[in-house]
Amino acid sequence: MADAEVRGDVRVIHEPADLRAACREARARGLRVGVVPTMGALHEGHLALVDEARRRADLVIVTIFVNPLQFGPNEDFSRYPRTLPEDLAQCSARGVDVVFAPERAAMYPEGFSSTVRVAGVSEPLEGVHRPGHFDGVTTVVAKLFGLVGESTAIFGRKDYQQWKVITRMTRDLDLPVDLVGHRTIREPDGLALSSRNRYLDASERQRALGIVLGLRAAAAAFGAGERDPSALERLAHAEIGPRFDSIDYLALRHPETLAPFDGQARDRAVLVVAARIGKTRLIDNLVLGEEPVP
Ligand code: PAF
Repeated sequence: MADAEVRGDVRVIHEPADLRAACREARARGLRVGVVPTMGALHEGHLALVDEARRRADLVIVTIFVNPLQFGPNEDFSRYPRTLPEDLAQCSARGVDVVFAPERAAMYPEGFSSTVRVAGVSEPLEGVHRPGHFDGVTTVVAKLFGLVGESTAIFGRKDYQQWKVITRMTRDLDLPVDLVGHRTIREPDGLALSSRNRYLDASERQRALGIVLGLRAAAAAFGAGERDPSALERLAHAEIGPRFDSIDYLALRHPETLAPFDGQARDRAVLVVAARIGKTRLIDNLVLGEEPVP
């Protein structure tokens, strides 16, 4: 097939039309299609999503595209790690069937002028600190879903707000995709896996653990009955504040809408954080009352 090659056991597709055809053919043969959308620089967090896709589908597709639309002008688009050969080797080792790795011009050809925007849940938190970010995410994910068609898509819950925004979009637009939110994969010391962790030097890596300590402190208090959002945020801040250079947000929110609580938190609440060490911005979260303490 034109514009596709096979690396190891993985078929690499670059053209959107070829991805659409591969998915159609698979479904015509009665196969279930599973897709893991990524921006590459794959790590065990992504590979856990691949394993989940493999459990649920017969044809497993990983998409690898550093989507320019979701990066702001002062963000790390140009320095974002691009490691396609290593990514393909990892996909092959993990039994991925197809990698879709399009060029920018294939996804956004001359004249491209559409945006998918989800109101409400996309607006606080990341929406404030990365204006336009979620429009870029939902636009590219809607395109990917349009190409792949009926399928199951797996996303990591480390990007908790992204997960909720994509869930809203998929429901609102009746996209034929079943969504699965996979738990956050962490290092043994609790740090959430992220492609951006590779920017951290050894001392920054140590300081980054402040987030884990903060989540743990809040989870312990929540477990002991504390429901005051400010008190829980203060406990987390005491660990994160001194170790990070700045905090974009650290907030206890409603786990579905990401709106602030009007008064006390209920039996489930998500603590979300975005904080910076040097030029590196890390995000993490924990759903208190639901997820185990990291
Ligand atoms: O989570 C990511 O890696 C990206 O935001 C996604 C969903 C692949 C869209 O570019």
